[in-house]
Amino acid sequence: MRALLAISALALAAASKKEKKPSGHGADVAAFVRGAHKADDANVAKAKRAVHDGLAELLAYYNGDEQVLDALVFATSGLAPTLEAKLARLATSGGGKFVVAAFGSSVTAGHDGFGHTAWPAVLGRRLAKELAPLGIEVEVRNQAVGGAEPFPRSLCVGPIAGSDVDLVIREWEYWGFSDGLEAPGAHGGEDGAIEIFLRTAFLLPNKPAVLFLNMEPNGEGRKTQQVRAAMKGKLKIYGERFGVGVLSAFGKPFDHLRAAAPKSRRHRSGSKSCHGNGVGDCPVGEKPDGHHTRPLELGVPEDSPLKPLADPAKLFINWHPGTLGHEMMGHQAAFAVLRAAQSGLAALGLGSVPSSAGSLPEPIACDKSPFCKSSQRTAFCAQSTLPKHESPDIGDWLDNSTQTQWRNSATESGKNRERFCAAPSKECAKHPAGQGCWHYTRSCSYYDQKRAFTGTSGDGPLSFKMPRGACNLFLSEPGYEWSKPIGVANWHAELSIKIDGEQCRACSIVQGGGAYIQSVHVDLARHYGSTERCASARVSLSVQPVESLAAWEASSGKKVCQVARNGKCEPKGDWRRYAIGCAEDGMADGKKACKFKAGKPRDASSVRAYVTSALAW
Ligand SMILES: *[C@@H]1O[C@H](CO)[C@@H](O)[C@H](O)[C@H]1NC(C)=O
Repeated sequence: MRALLAISALALAAASKKEKKPSGHGADVAAFVRGAHKADDANVAKAKRAVHDGLAELLAYYNGDEQVLDALVFATSGLAPTLEAKLARLATSGGGKFVVAAFGSSVTAGHDGFGHTAWPAVLGRRLAKELAPLGIEVEVRNQAVGGAEPFPRSLCVGPIAGSDVDLVIREWEYWGFSDGLEAPGAHGGEDGAIEIFLRTAFLLPNKPAVLFLNMEPNGEGRKTQQVRAAMKGKLKIYGERFGVGVLSAFGKPFDHLRAAAPKSRRHRSGSKSCHGNGVGDCPVGEKPDGHHTRPLELGVPEDSPLKPLADPAKLFINWHPGTLGHEMMGHQAAFAVLRAAQSGLAALGLGSVPSSAGSLPEPIACDKSPFCKSSQRTAFCAQSTLPKHESPDIGDWLDNSTQTQWRNSATESGKNRERFCAAPSKECAKHPAGQGCWHYTRSCSYYDQKRAFTGTSGDGPLSFKMPRGACNLFLSEPGYEWSKPIGVANWHAELSIKIDGEQCRACSIVQGGGAYIQSVHVDLARHYGSTERCASARVSLSVQPVESLAAWEASSGKKVCQVARNGKCEPKGDWRRYAIGCAEDGMADGKKACKFKAGKPRDASSVRAYVTSALAW
């Protein structure tokens, strides 16, 4: 203990001698900028003016109400040497490109509204406008996918966002940080999941800053508190070396509006009264964002016959933000970026200490996770779902020496939308002001499309090569709207997995807890008994449908339908979440028994498997 103390005292002394910071923050930014080029004073002054004007314009739109725009409730000291310095350098060096990628679910994809009015689009328009005078070209990529959990996507930041990303903004409002991770405890739980995501992002060439975006319409919530606690506690070192922040869109920014609003208000449905903190269900007034009864852009042209359906004054529609809510979130994110540019510029010329930002610390909460073992990467990742900025796709990992008949295509739900949106809408032709046309126009404005490699028993095997250095392969099927169509292959029973033509000895089907997505984990080191042959392994999947549900029950000795906790008969165990009708079947051993309803027989030859994501490590 004494020795340890002595060492740390020495280290501290050395550190303080080296880093005589006039201002910890300004010094890093100045060093970063100086390292890259010499900022001349006229350029800096011009840039400062432009950023100031951009902020002023945004503030004016909210009548000078700074609080409603200031959603950044927490930021680490590392935001200066990363985001602020980057923006200052771009602003004073005559421009360049600033790339933002948005991650998340239906909230960010813009469902219940339009893709082009979702907050990333608002952010993109606003930043492009305000940063154009500086010569900065802004690209905001909305990479969110409705109904997709944080994992495995949180391990695929590079391919999904693009390796040139400068800022990653992550919303996953209705999920926990570790959702989608099998056995989260083995990865360090929620903190581990946050750390894995951060490492995946910080390993990219531009070391992007990461902002978590939480909606929190009832006031600051658990997720903001969780990230703040992690970044102030266990994961502090990441925040010192990299930029991490939290935006709480309807939390703190709305506190003053909550306080000023009458106790009893009009529910957003308009049909009853309401009270309480929830500004989503119970708006603060006729102007739900405190200042406007409609957003700048409704999503349809002002002269569109659909305009009356646009519900402009809604901060929320169902559990998603409405167009006005999206506008608020996009503007708050733009405000945070412009503020970062402003601090970066203000810090220029304050000192000249080399920046220590940027080296990845040893894993902390995720130290047991295989995804944190390497300092080069968290996992290799291939995805078929769109949007995705870069390869690899699942297709890039295939061994096509024996031609596969599996194809990369939209999933069943994706296909419906593809077909629906490919043709001009008949509804719109018939009733241009009708609900059907409104529905068409919205659904066909989204960018997310669930895709997968898909094949039947007739399509032969799908054969994977391993990325160099990996001995584990983890393949997953895509999500479905609610229950799984009966024609989708059941990986527990209908997927044959071979390694170099031999039956796999170390493959497990994974379907955790309440999850309905099935995955297969292939542990090649265990299969071979060594790691030597992983690089040349060929992992092949093929579909081998069960003859019928009755045949499966007879051969497995298990039941498709069982009594659920609610006392009803439901598909359970291996067939959990399938769209299979179940009915009571008298009593067996003094307990209620269940059977599946004999409906149309399942056609084995059309049973189809979908593989949407592949991880390797
Ligand atoms: C293998 O074939 C599939 C299906 O035609 C294709 O999508 C994929 O890109 C191919 N992969 C390679 C590595 O050639």
